[in-house]
Amino acid sequence: MPELKPVILTTERLRLRWMTEADIPAHYAIFSDHDVARYWSREPWTDIAQAEESIKTILAAHADGSEARFGIELLSTGELIGNVGLHHFFEQNRRCEIGYALGSRHWGQGYATEALRAAIQYGFDALNLNRIEADIDPRNVGSGRVLEKVGFRKEGFMPERWFVFGEFADTVNYGLLKRYWDEA
Ligand SMILES: CC(C)(COP(=O)(O)OP(=O)(O)OC[C@H]1O[C@@H](n2cnc3c(N)ncnc32)[C@H](O)[C@@H]1OP(=O)(O)O)[C@@H](O)C(=O)NCCC(=O)NCCS
Repeated sequence: MPELKPVILTTERLRLRWMTEADIPAHYAIFSDHDVARYWSREPWTDIAQAEESIKTILAAHADGSEARFGIELLSTGELIGNVGLHHFFEQNRRCEIGYALGSRHWGQGYATEALRAAIQYGFDALNLNRIEADIDPRNVGSGRVLEKVGFRKEGFMPERWFVFGEFADTVNYGLLKRYWDEA
C-alpha cells in the first residue's frame, strides 16, 4: 500500500482535500439521493449513521494506505459537492481503481471531469501509478462520457456482474495508462 500523506489539490473551480468528520452531513445529503445511488451499486442511505460509518472507513483507509478519497469542494463557497477516490492499489503492478460521485444538483457543469483530472494527475505523479481502472454500468452514460473526456479507453464488457435494485447489471471496463495521459 502507498503511504498516503494529506494533500490539497486545487483546480480552476475546485479544491480536493482529505475528507473529515465535519463532512458527515454533506456526505449524507449526497448519498441519500436516489439519483446518485442509482449506479453506485447500493441503496441510497436512509440514516446519518451510514455517513458516519463511511467517513470512519475513509479515514481508516487513508491511515492504512488502502484508499485516497478526496472530498470535492467548490472553491467559491467551500461547499462539499462530492468525492473522488483512488483505491484497490496493487503496488507491484502500479495500478488502482477510481470511483467518484457528485451531488445531483451539481451535475452537468464539468465538475467531475475537472476533479478526475486532478485526482488522476495525483495518482500518476505522487503515487507513481502506471494504470487506473474504472468499471461502470453501461447505462450510466454521463459517467462513461467523463471517463472518455479524461482519456480512459473502453477495454471490456462483463455481463450481469452486479445484482442491484432487483436486477443484474452489466459492467463496461475502462482503463487509462500513464502513457495515454502523457500523450494527450
Ligand atoms: C457521473 C457523474 C460523476 C458525472 O458528473 P458531472 O459533473 O455531471 O460530469 P461532467 O459535467 O464533468 O461531464 C458529464 C458529461 O456527460 C454528458 N452526459 C451526462 N448525462 C448524459 C446522458 N444521459 N447522455 C449523454 N451524455 C450525458 C454531459 O453532457 C457531459 O459531457 P460533455 O461535457 O461532452 O457535454 C455524476 O453524474 C454522478 O455523480 N453520478 C452519480 C454517481 C455515479 O454514478 N458515479 C459513477 C459511478 S461509476
